[in-house]
Formats: sequence, C-alpha cells, structure tokens
Amino acid sequence: MKKLRSMLYLLITFCFIGLTTTLDVSSIVFVILSQNDKVHAQRAEILKEDLINQMKTHYHARPEIHLCHEEFNSISSWTILPLLPILDKLHSDTAKWIIFLEDYTAVDTRKLVMALEKYNHKQETWIGHSVHDNEATIIHHFAFHENPKSFKYPVIASGVAMSIPLIQRLMNKLKHEKLNSFTIDVAHELALFIGGEVPLKDEPTFCVQKNILCATFATEYQCCDIPMPKHSVYYAVKTCGKYHEDRVKVINETWRPHVAKIDFFSDTKDYNIPTIDIKIPNTERGHCQKSLSILHYVNKKIKNGELNAKWLVLADDDTIFSVSRLHTLLCCYDSSIPVAIGQKYGYNLLMGGGYSYLTGGAGIVFSIPALKILTERCTCPSIDSPDDMIFGACLVKEGIDMVHSPAFHQARPMDYTSDYLAVPKPLSFHKHWNADPLQIYNTWFQKDDVSFSKMEIHDEL
Ligand SMILES: *[C@@H]1O[C@H](CO)[C@@H](O)[C@H](O)[C@H]1NC(C)=O
Repeated sequence: MKKLRSMLYLLITFCFIGLTTTLDVSSIVFVILSQNDKVHAQRAEILKEDLINQMKTHYHARPEIHLCHEEFNSISSWTILPLLPILDKLHSDTAKWIIFLEDYTAVDTRKLVMALEKYNHKQETWIGHSVHDNEATIIHHFAFHENPKSFKYPVIASGVAMSIPLIQRLMNKLKHEKLNSFTIDVAHELALFIGGEVPLKDEPTFCVQKNILCATFATEYQCCDIPMPKHSVYYAVKTCGKYHEDRVKVINETWRPHVAKIDFFSDTKDYNIPTIDIKIPNTERGHCQKSLSILHYVNKKIKNGELNAKWLVLADDDTIFSVSRLHTLLCCYDSSIPVAIGQKYGYNLLMGGGYSYLTGGAGIVFSIPALKILTERCTCPSIDSPDDMIFGACLVKEGIDMVHSPAFHQARPMDYTSDYLAVPKPLSFHKHWNADPLQIYNTWFQKDDVSFSKMEIHDEL
C-alpha cells in the first residue's frame, strides 16, 4: 500500500513537471540597465525593439521591458539592488523571471526561454554566466583571499535571471542589513548580498562571446572605422616629483608616442619630461585641488585659443591607455555637449542620497563643455579630497551625463576575470603594483596603437 502510494505520488509529480515545463513567455520581465545619455539610451532602445520583435515573431507575445534611465532612478539603478522593491511591486503577481541586461547584451529569446525552462522559478534561483577570481583582488576588497576560486559571481553583460522568491527575500534583507557605502563591482557585490545559501546557477547558454548555442552574449560596439584624430584629444597626466623617474618613463615608453597633445602636471618643474608645476603640494590621499587646478589650466588655454581640442583625458601617472581604442570609443559621443566618460563607481547609492562617480585611475574623459561647467561650478572641500568623487558629485549636481564604459579599468588586468575583459576590449588599466606595466601595455594595447599611429601618418601624407 505504502509502495503504491509513493508510486502514485511519483506519477503525479511527473505529470505536474510535464505540465509546468513549458514556460509562459509573458512571465519573463526584462530590465535593461540603460544609461541616460543619447548614445546609450539609443542602444537600449534598439535592444528593446529587438526583444519585442523576437517575442512577437516566435510567441505572439509582448514582453514587459523596463529601461532604467526612463523609469527608474538613473543615478542608482545600475547597481540593481535598489530596483528590487520596485520590480517586486510591479511584477510579483504575474512574473516568474526578471532578467537584467546591459545595453550591449544580445539575446536570442527562443534559446533564453529554453534555458529558463530548466530551472525552478518557485524557488530562490538566480542564473548567469558564472565566473570566479583567480587571485584575491583589490576591486573585491581581497575577499576570499584564502580560496578566491570558491566564490562565484556573474558577468552581467551575459544577462542575469532572478526568480521572484529570490527577489522577495533580498528585499527583506535590504530593509534589515547594513549596506556597503561603495559600489565598485556590481556583479560581485550582488553575489555577496545574495549569499552562499543560493549559489549562482551557471547556465552555459548565457555567454560572453557569441556562438551558435548562446541565448545571450555581449556585443562589441564601434561607432567609426577611423578613430578620433590625435589632435582632437588632449591628455593631462597627474604626477609628482617622486614618480618622474619611473612612472612617467613608463608612459613615455608605452602610450605617449601615440598621442599628439599631452602635459604632465607635477609639484615640481622637471625639464627632462617636461612638467608643468601646478603649484599645489602633493597630497597622499585625494588630489582634488590639483585636478581642479588642471581643469582650470586647460579651460584657460582653450579660452585663450592656445589649445585646440575636443576632449580632455585626465589620467594618473600609472594609468595605462590604449590610445587607439580610446579614440575609437570617442567617435560615439558628441563633444559639443557636456559629457564625462569613464568607469562608474558608486558612493552611498544603496542608502539613498549618494552619487555615482567616474573612478580616476581608469582615466576620465571630459568634453570641453563639461570641463567648462566643472571649472565654473565645482570647488574642493579640501585640497586632499578625492578628486574623482568630488567631480562625480558635481557632475550629478549639474546634471551632466556621466557615461559608464566597461572598457575603462581602475585596476590591473589580473584583477579582473578573463571573461569580463573579453567584451568590450579594454582601453585602460591602472596601477603598477606587483605588475610589469610595459608587459601589460605590450600584451593588451601595443598592436592596436601602432597601427593607429601608422594609419594617422598615412592619412596626413
Ligand atoms: C619622455 O619623452 C619625451 C618626448 O619624447 C622626452 O623629451 C623626455 O625626455 C622623456 N622623458 C623621460 C622621463 O623619459
């Protein structure tokens, strides 16, 4: 009797599974982590249209799609967690999966539906392209330094799917837990917040690089074949006396030969480089006064007609650029409007009242109109306030578009997973600590820069 009952139970379970495996496609909600500026808003719009068309063709369904920059708080929504209570309120009755996408994620909806059917939406589940650190890294505060490979987190560009029960638990957790003040790597911080009880499910069709099996993959975008000409971009490098010998020498031997306009701003005059003495003493922590003085210096030169440029690139003396890739990226943006581009970090975003900023070591690009506004409206609370954070707060206050590009990097290549670095191609790295900057440059950037310089010489002939 007992045996019969358990067999019956099994039979019912099978039927039940059989009935529920076909996922109702209208229960999938897409959230595109879109950005405000015109270029990225348009990219998000194109992805949205594509999703609508695919769902119409394959399923005669119209999906729910949210564009963060239109519907949610565009200052904090890129960090995902602040969206959860809103998404729960909108969709917990009908949705089964919420899928987060970047504007450069591509989706094959049929493969996505097939992938999702494999998982249980009634449990706490999250699905993505799973990666782990190979060594402890500063961008993750050296977490899991004893066994860095043990902790899994997703590549958000490959899409991340979350079930409603998971979102509901996280919402409650959000109310009760103390949150980090800094947002540095959203994917890692999200995984930490979700916690080890619900490990990320690695879905092989959530890809980084495209192949025929992929439900999602990241795309490389390029707005031009001919990069922004060298003379349109002015580089300002922050340095100080103690680094003239080593760090400036590295710049000289790597990316400097590929730029047309560059100045080194220091606390001392050095005719060998040469440097401009900006008359601000070097500070150990932040460099607000120094950086702001550089912006004033450049703004004045432009106003006087002594300098002609469309873009200002502000960099540390240990920032390593691919000049060609940076100039290729700049083709996408309109230099006649105020805009700043770099790698976005956040401060106090999850508590509310915080702001995003572009982290300085990765290099920050300002259009000249943005530069002008910053010089008119921004001040440093103290000489050693963190320049990048103060600029970020000021950009937010002035309503200037702050564009995140995942091609910029505040740390060294070994601080990121190879999947994260695969798409888009990196254009900057930062820091010489425990690394050989010449080798980093030669491995990642040299080839593209050399052909860029050759092409430009050719164009001038
Ligand atoms: C860097 O390169 C410039 C231009 O080629 C040169 O004048 C300068 O002496 C070099 N400085 C260092 C520190 O190598």
